[in-house]
Amino acid sequence: MRKVFMTALVLVLAVACCAHADEVKIGACIYRFNDAFMLRFRNAMSAESEKLGAVITIADGQDNQTTQDEQVDAFIADGVNVLIVNTVDRMASQSIIDKAKAANIPVVFINREPTPEMLATYDKAYYVGAKAEESGTETGELVASYFKAHPEADKNKDGKLQFILLKGQNGHQDMILRSKYSVEAVKNAGIEPVELASAIANWDKLEAMKIMNGFIMSIGPENIEAVIANNDEMALGAIEALKAQDYNTGNPEAYIPVVGVDANASALEAMDKGEMLGTVLNDADNQGISAVRLAAALAEGKDTGTIGYEITDGKYIWIPYQKVTRGEKQ
Ligand code: GAL
Ligand code: CA
Repeated sequence: MRKVFMTALVLVLAVACCAHADEVKIGACIYRFNDAFMLRFRNAMSAESEKLGAVITIADGQDNQTTQDEQVDAFIADGVNVLIVNTVDRMASQSIIDKAKAANIPVVFINREPTPEMLATYDKAYYVGAKAEESGTETGELVASYFKAHPEADKNKDGKLQFILLKGQNGHQDMILRSKYSVEAVKNAGIEPVELASAIANWDKLEAMKIMNGFIMSIGPENIEAVIANNDEMALGAIEALKAQDYNTGNPEAYIPVVGVDANASALEAMDKGEMLGTVLNDADNQGISAVRLAAALAEGKDTGTIGYEITDGKYIWIPYQKVTRGEKQ
Protein backbone atom coordinates (compact mmCIF):
# COMPACT_ATOMS: atom_id res chain seq x y z
CA MET A 1 0.00 0.00 0.00
CA ARG A 2 2.74 2.40 1.05
CA LYS A 3 4.69 1.70 -2.11
CA VAL A 4 1.63 2.27 -4.26
CA PHE A 5 1.06 5.55 -2.47
CA MET A 6 4.63 6.71 -3.01
CA THR A 7 4.45 5.77 -6.68
CA ALA A 8 1.24 7.73 -7.02
CA LEU A 9 2.84 10.70 -5.29
CA VAL A 10 5.91 10.63 -7.51
CA LEU A 11 3.66 10.45 -10.55
CA VAL A 12 1.63 13.42 -9.38
CA LEU A 13 4.77 15.44 -8.70
CA ALA A 14 6.25 14.49 -12.06
CA VAL A 15 3.19 15.79 -13.87
CA ALA A 16 3.02 18.88 -11.69
CA CYS A 17 6.57 19.99 -12.43
CA CYS A 18 5.83 20.07 -16.14
CA ALA A 19 2.71 22.18 -15.85
CA HIS A 20 2.91 25.92 -16.40
CA ALA A 21 1.87 28.10 -13.52
CA ASP A 22 -1.27 29.33 -15.28
CA GLU A 23 -2.52 25.88 -16.29
CA VAL A 24 -5.38 24.31 -14.41
CA LYS A 25 -4.29 21.17 -12.59
CA ILE A 26 -7.01 18.56 -12.23
CA GLY A 27 -6.63 15.58 -9.92
CA ALA A 28 -9.04 12.84 -10.99
CA CYS A 29 -9.82 9.64 -9.09
CA ILE A 30 -11.50 6.66 -10.77
CA TYR A 31 -12.88 3.82 -8.63
CA ARG A 32 -11.24 1.16 -10.82
CA PHE A 33 -9.46 1.44 -14.18
CA ASN A 34 -10.56 -2.08 -15.08
CA ASP A 35 -14.11 -1.06 -16.06
CA ALA A 36 -15.17 -0.75 -19.70
CA PHE A 37 -17.53 2.19 -19.17
CA MET A 38 -15.11 4.11 -16.96
CA LEU A 39 -12.45 3.66 -19.65
CA ARG A 40 -14.66 5.56 -22.09
CA PHE A 41 -15.19 8.17 -19.37
CA ARG A 42 -11.44 8.54 -18.76
CA ASN A 43 -10.72 8.91 -22.45
CA ALA A 44 -13.32 11.68 -22.75
CA MET A 45 -11.85 13.52 -19.76
CA SER A 46 -8.30 13.30 -21.07
CA ALA A 47 -9.28 14.53 -24.52
CA GLU A 48 -11.27 17.48 -23.15
CA SER A 49 -8.47 18.45 -20.73
CA GLU A 50 -6.06 18.53 -23.61
CA LYS A 51 -8.45 20.69 -25.61
CA LEU A 52 -8.74 23.15 -22.73
CA GLY A 53 -5.00 23.13 -22.05
CA ALA A 54 -5.60 21.75 -18.56
CA VAL A 55 -3.36 19.12 -16.99
CA ILE A 56 -5.24 16.12 -15.71
CA THR A 57 -3.74 13.30 -13.66
CA ILE A 58 -5.97 10.26 -13.29
CA ALA A 59 -5.48 7.79 -10.43
CA ASP A 60 -6.71 4.19 -10.28
CA GLY A 61 -8.49 3.50 -6.98
CA GLN A 62 -8.29 -0.25 -7.68
CA ASP A 63 -11.72 -0.70 -6.13
CA ASN A 64 -10.31 0.18 -2.71
CA GLN A 65 -11.59 3.25 -0.85
CA THR A 66 -8.49 3.45 1.37
CA THR A 67 -6.28 3.59 -1.70
CA GLN A 68 -8.48 6.29 -3.18
CA ASP A 69 -8.46 8.33 0.04
CA GLU A 70 -4.65 8.34 -0.11
CA GLN A 71 -4.78 9.47 -3.74
CA VAL A 72 -7.07 12.35 -2.78
CA ASP A 73 -4.63 13.34 -0.02
CA ALA A 74 -1.72 13.19 -2.48
CA PHE A 75 -3.52 15.37 -5.02
CA ILE A 76 -4.37 17.96 -2.38
CA ALA A 77 -0.81 17.92 -1.02
CA ASP A 78 0.43 18.49 -4.54
CA GLY A 79 -1.77 21.55 -4.92
CA VAL A 80 -4.22 20.52 -7.63
CA ASN A 81 -6.74 23.26 -8.39
CA VAL A 82 -9.75 20.95 -8.51
CA LEU A 83 -10.73 17.34 -7.90
CA ILE A 84 -12.88 15.04 -10.03
CA VAL A 85 -13.89 11.97 -8.03
CA ASN A 86 -15.57 8.68 -8.96
CA THR A 87 -15.74 7.19 -5.47
CA VAL A 88 -15.19 3.51 -4.73
CA ASP A 89 -17.88 3.75 -2.05
CA ARG A 90 -20.19 6.70 -2.57
CA MET A 91 -20.75 6.93 1.19
CA ALA A 92 -17.08 8.06 1.39
CA SER A 93 -18.04 11.25 -0.49
CA GLN A 94 -18.52 13.22 2.71
CA SER A 95 -14.95 12.78 3.91
CA ILE A 96 -13.68 13.76 0.44
CA ILE A 97 -15.90 16.86 0.49
CA ASP A 98 -14.51 17.75 3.92
CA LYS A 99 -10.95 17.46 2.65
CA ALA A 100 -11.65 19.55 -0.47
CA LYS A 101 -13.40 22.17 1.62
CA ALA A 102 -10.49 22.38 4.07
CA ALA A 103 -8.14 22.89 1.11
CA ASN A 104 -10.61 25.32 -0.50
CA ILE A 105 -10.67 23.50 -3.84
CA PRO A 106 -13.80 22.53 -5.77
CA VAL A 107 -14.77 18.87 -6.15
CA VAL A 108 -16.82 17.39 -8.99
CA PHE A 109 -18.16 13.91 -8.30
CA ILE A 110 -18.88 11.69 -11.27
CA ASN A 111 -20.82 8.44 -11.87
CA ARG A 112 -21.31 7.62 -8.16
CA GLU A 113 -23.72 10.05 -6.66
CA PRO A 114 -23.22 11.55 -3.19
CA THR A 115 -26.44 12.18 -1.24
CA PRO A 116 -27.96 15.67 -1.61
CA GLU A 117 -27.22 16.20 2.09
CA MET A 118 -23.51 15.59 1.46
CA LEU A 119 -23.39 17.94 -1.55
CA ALA A 120 -25.19 20.60 0.48
CA THR A 121 -22.28 20.79 2.95
CA TYR A 122 -19.98 22.52 0.45
CA ASP A 123 -20.87 25.20 -2.10
CA LYS A 124 -18.08 23.97 -4.40
CA ALA A 125 -19.26 20.34 -4.51
CA TYR A 126 -21.00 19.15 -7.69
CA TYR A 127 -22.20 15.96 -9.37
CA VAL A 128 -22.09 14.99 -13.05
CA GLY A 129 -23.99 11.88 -14.05
CA ALA A 130 -27.04 10.37 -15.63
CA LYS A 131 -30.38 9.61 -14.00
CA ALA A 132 -30.29 5.93 -13.15
CA GLU A 133 -34.07 5.58 -13.15
CA GLU A 134 -34.14 6.67 -16.81
CA SER A 135 -31.86 3.84 -17.91
CA GLY A 136 -33.82 1.37 -15.79
CA THR A 137 -37.08 2.40 -17.39
CA GLU A 138 -35.59 2.23 -20.87
CA THR A 139 -34.19 -1.31 -20.49
CA GLY A 140 -37.55 -2.47 -19.11
CA GLU A 141 -39.30 -0.88 -22.09
CA LEU A 142 -36.96 -2.62 -24.53
CA VAL A 143 -37.83 -6.00 -23.04
CA ALA A 144 -41.56 -5.22 -22.82
CA SER A 145 -41.86 -4.15 -26.45
CA TYR A 146 -39.95 -7.26 -27.59
CA PHE A 147 -42.23 -9.45 -25.48
CA LYS A 148 -45.33 -7.85 -27.00
CA ALA A 149 -44.08 -8.08 -30.57
CA HIS A 150 -42.98 -11.73 -30.19
CA PRO A 151 -45.71 -14.02 -28.81
CA GLU A 152 -43.23 -16.93 -28.84
CA ALA A 153 -41.17 -15.07 -26.22
CA ASP A 154 -43.79 -16.07 -23.65
CA LYS A 155 -42.42 -19.58 -23.48
CA ASN A 156 -44.80 -21.00 -20.88
CA LYS A 157 -47.76 -19.08 -22.33
CA ASP A 158 -48.86 -17.61 -19.00
CA GLY A 159 -48.86 -14.01 -20.21
CA LYS A 160 -46.20 -13.14 -17.62
CA LEU A 161 -42.51 -12.41 -18.11
CA GLN A 162 -40.18 -14.82 -16.30
CA PHE A 163 -36.88 -12.95 -16.05
CA ILE A 164 -33.42 -12.99 -14.49
CA LEU A 165 -31.92 -9.82 -13.04
CA LEU A 166 -28.16 -9.23 -12.95
CA LYS A 167 -27.27 -6.38 -10.63
CA GLY A 168 -24.24 -4.08 -10.39
CA GLN A 169 -22.51 -3.18 -7.18
CA ASN A 170 -24.19 -3.09 -3.75
CA GLY A 171 -25.18 0.42 -2.69
CA HIS A 172 -24.57 1.97 -6.15
CA GLN A 173 -27.45 4.22 -7.22
CA ASP A 174 -27.32 2.68 -10.69
CA MET A 175 -27.78 -0.80 -9.23
CA ILE A 176 -30.67 0.17 -6.98
CA LEU A 177 -32.59 2.36 -9.41
CA ARG A 178 -31.95 0.46 -12.65
CA SER A 179 -33.14 -2.74 -10.97
CA LYS A 180 -36.26 -1.11 -9.60
CA TYR A 181 -37.27 0.89 -12.67
CA SER A 182 -36.61 -1.82 -15.26
CA VAL A 183 -39.07 -4.14 -13.56
CA GLU A 184 -41.46 -1.25 -13.02
CA ALA A 185 -41.42 -0.46 -16.75
CA VAL A 186 -42.37 -4.05 -17.61
CA LYS A 187 -45.32 -3.72 -15.23
CA ASN A 188 -46.29 -0.35 -16.67
CA ALA A 189 -46.35 -1.93 -20.12
CA GLY A 190 -49.09 -4.22 -18.84
CA ILE A 191 -46.95 -7.34 -18.40
CA GLU A 192 -46.63 -9.06 -15.04
CA PRO A 193 -42.93 -9.54 -14.25
CA VAL A 194 -41.89 -12.72 -12.43
CA GLU A 195 -38.33 -12.71 -11.10
CA LEU A 196 -36.85 -16.20 -11.43
CA ALA A 197 -33.55 -15.22 -9.82
CA SER A 198 -31.30 -12.23 -9.27
CA ALA A 199 -27.72 -11.67 -8.12
CA ILE A 200 -25.04 -9.04 -7.69
CA ALA A 201 -22.29 -9.39 -10.31
CA ASN A 202 -20.41 -6.12 -9.64
CA TRP A 203 -20.63 -4.78 -13.21
CA ASP A 204 -18.32 -7.62 -14.20
CA LYS A 205 -18.56 -9.88 -17.25
CA LEU A 206 -16.83 -12.94 -15.81
CA GLU A 207 -18.75 -12.79 -12.56
CA ALA A 208 -22.02 -12.49 -14.47
CA MET A 209 -21.09 -15.41 -16.71
CA LYS A 210 -20.50 -17.69 -13.73
CA ILE A 211 -23.72 -16.62 -12.04
CA MET A 212 -25.71 -17.05 -15.24
CA ASN A 213 -24.22 -20.51 -15.71
CA GLY A 214 -25.59 -21.45 -12.31
CA PHE A 215 -29.02 -20.03 -13.11
CA ILE A 216 -29.14 -21.85 -16.44
CA MET A 217 -28.31 -25.13 -14.69
CA SER A 218 -30.83 -24.72 -11.88
CA ILE A 219 -33.68 -23.10 -13.83
CA GLY A 220 -33.23 -24.45 -17.35
CA PRO A 221 -32.79 -22.06 -20.29
CA GLU A 222 -36.17 -23.09 -21.72
CA ASN A 223 -37.83 -21.46 -18.68
CA ILE A 224 -36.05 -18.11 -18.93
CA GLU A 225 -37.88 -15.44 -20.93
CA ALA A 226 -35.50 -12.49 -20.49
CA VAL A 227 -32.27 -11.38 -18.85
CA ILE A 228 -32.16 -7.82 -17.57
CA ALA A 229 -28.65 -6.67 -16.64
CA ASN A 230 -27.70 -3.39 -14.97
CA ASN A 231 -24.86 -2.94 -17.50
CA ASP A 232 -23.50 -4.29 -20.78
CA GLU A 233 -20.55 -6.20 -19.35
CA MET A 234 -22.88 -8.33 -17.23
CA ALA A 235 -25.27 -8.74 -20.17
CA LEU A 236 -22.34 -9.99 -22.26
CA GLY A 237 -21.33 -12.40 -19.49
CA ALA A 238 -24.88 -13.80 -19.50
CA ILE A 239 -24.74 -14.13 -23.28
CA GLU A 240 -21.47 -16.10 -23.03
CA ALA A 241 -23.20 -18.52 -20.67
CA LEU A 242 -26.19 -18.79 -23.00
CA LYS A 243 -24.01 -19.37 -26.05
CA ALA A 244 -22.32 -22.27 -24.26
CA GLN A 245 -25.79 -23.89 -24.21
CA ASP A 246 -26.34 -23.08 -27.90
CA TYR A 247 -28.68 -20.23 -27.07
CA ASN A 248 -28.46 -16.82 -28.78
CA THR A 249 -26.34 -18.15 -31.61
CA GLY A 250 -28.78 -17.42 -34.44
CA ASN A 251 -31.39 -20.17 -33.97
CA PRO A 252 -34.70 -18.36 -33.29
CA GLU A 253 -35.94 -21.41 -31.35
CA ALA A 254 -33.15 -20.93 -28.85
CA TYR A 255 -33.11 -17.24 -28.07
CA ILE A 256 -33.47 -15.27 -24.84
CA PRO A 257 -33.66 -11.47 -25.06
CA VAL A 258 -30.84 -9.88 -23.05
CA VAL A 259 -30.56 -6.17 -22.30
CA GLY A 260 -27.87 -4.04 -20.68
CA VAL A 261 -26.85 -0.42 -20.17
CA ASP A 262 -23.87 1.63 -21.49
CA ALA A 263 -23.76 0.96 -25.25
CA ASN A 264 -20.13 -0.13 -25.08
CA ALA A 265 -18.64 -1.18 -28.42
CA SER A 266 -18.69 -4.87 -27.45
CA ALA A 267 -22.43 -4.68 -26.73
CA LEU A 268 -23.17 -2.97 -30.05
CA GLU A 269 -21.23 -5.77 -31.75
CA ALA A 270 -23.26 -8.43 -29.91
CA MET A 271 -26.42 -6.64 -31.01
CA ASP A 272 -25.27 -6.58 -34.62
CA LYS A 273 -24.71 -10.33 -34.41
CA GLY A 274 -28.22 -10.82 -33.00
CA GLU A 275 -26.92 -12.13 -29.68
CA MET A 276 -28.17 -9.20 -27.60
CA LEU A 277 -31.53 -7.43 -27.79
CA GLY A 278 -30.61 -3.92 -26.78
CA THR A 279 -28.91 -1.45 -24.51
CA VAL A 280 -29.12 2.16 -23.38
CA LEU A 281 -26.46 4.69 -24.24
CA ASN A 282 -24.69 5.85 -21.08
CA ASP A 283 -23.10 8.93 -22.61
CA ALA A 284 -19.51 8.79 -21.34
CA ASP A 285 -18.39 11.46 -23.80
CA ASN A 286 -20.77 14.15 -22.61
CA GLN A 287 -20.33 13.16 -18.97
CA GLY A 288 -16.53 13.32 -19.29
CA ILE A 289 -16.50 16.56 -21.26
CA SER A 290 -18.93 18.34 -18.95
CA ALA A 291 -17.10 17.17 -15.82
CA VAL A 292 -13.79 18.58 -17.12
CA ARG A 293 -15.35 21.84 -18.33
CA LEU A 294 -17.10 22.33 -15.01
CA ALA A 295 -13.93 21.48 -13.06
CA ALA A 296 -11.83 23.89 -15.12
CA ALA A 297 -14.37 26.72 -14.85
CA LEU A 298 -14.60 26.25 -11.07
CA ALA A 299 -10.81 26.12 -10.71
CA GLU A 300 -10.43 29.36 -12.63
CA GLY A 301 -13.33 31.04 -10.86
CA LYS A 302 -15.13 31.45 -14.20
CA ASP A 303 -18.87 31.62 -14.74
CA THR A 304 -20.16 28.04 -14.88
CA GLY A 305 -22.99 29.26 -17.11
CA THR A 306 -20.61 29.33 -20.07
CA ILE A 307 -19.58 25.66 -20.20
CA GLY A 308 -22.33 24.54 -22.56
CA TYR A 309 -24.09 22.24 -20.10
CA GLU A 310 -27.02 23.15 -17.91
CA ILE A 311 -26.45 23.11 -14.15
CA THR A 312 -29.55 22.01 -12.24
CA ASP A 313 -30.24 23.03 -8.63
CA GLY A 314 -26.82 24.70 -8.58
CA LYS A 315 -25.17 21.28 -8.14
CA TYR A 316 -25.92 18.82 -10.94
CA ILE A 317 -25.20 18.19 -14.60
CA TRP A 318 -27.53 15.47 -15.91
CA ILE A 319 -26.67 13.79 -19.20
CA PRO A 320 -29.61 11.95 -20.77
CA TYR A 321 -29.64 8.25 -21.65
CA GLN A 322 -30.79 6.93 -25.01
CA LYS A 323 -32.23 3.53 -26.02
CA VAL A 324 -30.20 1.60 -28.58
CA THR A 325 -31.31 -1.49 -30.50
CA ARG A 326 -29.41 -3.16 -33.34
CA GLY A 327 -27.06 -0.26 -33.77
CA GLU A 328 -29.84 2.33 -34.03
CA LYS A 329 -30.77 4.91 -31.43
CA GLN A 330 -34.51 5.01 -30.74
C1 GAL B 1 -22.37 2.61 -14.38
C2 GAL B 1 -22.06 1.82 -15.65
C3 GAL B 1 -21.36 0.53 -15.27
C4 GAL B 1 -20.15 0.80 -14.41
C5 GAL B 1 -20.51 1.67 -13.23
C6 GAL B 1 -19.29 2.05 -12.43
O1 GAL B 1 -22.95 3.83 -14.71
O2 GAL B 1 -23.25 1.54 -16.32
O3 GAL B 1 -20.97 -0.16 -16.43
O4 GAL B 1 -19.18 1.44 -15.18
O5 GAL B 1 -21.18 2.84 -13.66
O6 GAL B 1 -19.61 2.87 -11.36
CA1 CA C 1 -44.22 -16.39 -19.36
